[in-house]
Amino acid sequence: MAKRTSLQGFWSSRLAFILAVTGSAVGLGNIWKFPYVTGEYGGGAFVLMYLAFVFIIGLPTMMSEILIGRRGRRNPVTTMQLVGEEESGRSAWKYVGLMGVCGGILILSYYSVVAGWAVAYIPKAASGAFVGSDAATVKSLFNTLTGDPWALLGWHSLFMGLTVFVVARGVERGLEQAVRILMPALVIMLVILLVYSIRHGDFMAAVNYMFRPNWDDISFEGALVALGQALFTLSVGMGAVMAYGAYLPEETNIGTAAITVVLADTTIAILAGLVIFPVVFGFGMAAGGGPGLIFQTLPLAFGGMPGGVVFGTVFFVLLSFAAWTSAIGLIEPAVAWANEQFSVPRSKATLAIGGLIWLIGVLSVLSFNVLKDEKYHTPLGTLFDTIEFITSNVMLPLGALLIVIFAGWVMCRNSTSDELKMGSGLRYDMWRFAARYIAPIAVIAVFLHSLGLLSRFTNG
Ligand code: PFF
Repeated sequence: MAKRTSLQGFWSSRLAFILAVTGSAVGLGNIWKFPYVTGEYGGGAFVLMYLAFVFIIGLPTMMSEILIGRRGRRNPVTTMQLVGEEESGRSAWKYVGLMGVCGGILILSYYSVVAGWAVAYIPKAASGAFVGSDAATVKSLFNTLTGDPWALLGWHSLFMGLTVFVVARGVERGLEQAVRILMPALVIMLVILLVYSIRHGDFMAAVNYMFRPNWDDISFEGALVALGQALFTLSVGMGAVMAYGAYLPEETNIGTAAITVVLADTTIAILAGLVIFPVVFGFGMAAGGGPGLIFQTLPLAFGGMPGGVVFGTVFFVLLSFAAWTSAIGLIEPAVAWANEQFSVPRSKATLAIGGLIWLIGVLSVLSFNVLKDEKYHTPLGTLFDTIEFITSNVMLPLGALLIVIFAGWVMCRNSTSDELKMGSGLRYDMWRFAARYIAPIAVIAVFLHSLGLLSRFTNG
């Protein structure tokens, strides 16, 4: 078979690819979501499940996505269709790509609203609003922001505008540079915060909370949320990594790239937890504080440390950038699809899709104020909670399941070993075993468990 070539160019090097995928992976998922879902689902047992899922499901899914993407060399929809036809004669696999495109649009709709909070906190930090604050003032600062629909709409619009601007101009390759500098800077900031947390927070309580599993704490839902979090944080299950894989040069080793990204992403999430929870326990706050958790804890830390105005400002700038490089990964499948499938120029495609995402995002904006009341809730909570739950905990696991089944069962051994370039050694066999058995069985088990269907067996 003659190899296809990408329509959107190639990454300049393996490092460029790793940086782009790391940029997509490291974002609000690590710093905002990981601590808050860990807090809501009870700590240690949740963290352990999350870690297990990262390695047994997330890593093989990421490798599968990259290899499928490089094989197809198109947007996720066309890639799944072409490779599906080649490997099994069925083009219906394109619907997996289509679900990913929709997932990216829905995730970005609320992701942009939360990213807007991070941007809004830059001027707050810079103006000294956190200095000497206590838990109550920090909380009311957050509630004032989220209670104001116009302010939220403004920040959401600003963030979407910036995302669309970069993606439309097709300069996201320039992001290599940004990620190369900003990611280490973010790690340095987290380490500075860690020093504060160790000295002023209750560090031992946090370590116990995060790493001492108490299995009684785990609900049916907890396992599903841990799975959703593992996939969300790695940006897998919706074709983002597949879209990036399409631009990967032939000779790059996929396994090494994927492991590098997974380790970097996981380290940053754990680091974020070790920063947040000492503050939570040291200042007597509630771990299950919900989506506002980091916005109600970190300002306390910045407000109480020397140089906190500068550090706080820098931190929220970096967090906004991390969210921004992830947003680009979220919108890329849809933009590449519109561009390749309907021959819409990249700039127009981005504008149209960005506009749609912005509009859906208004629902999340209103979830914190106008539509906050119980009478506007679904069984899953506010509209924000609902979109977040369905995308992370239903669409991503389903996408990941179909992707590993495709790579492990539908694609023939020759094709996958050819892409993974691991020869037929142990590492290839490990990937294939994980893609064929471990990951699919684990995802299905978590799904059944969360529906309560496995409890009959486990409870005798
Ligand atoms: N991984 C990103 C984060 O942790 O913030 C979120 C994300 C980006 C999910 C891109 C999916 C995606 F395609």
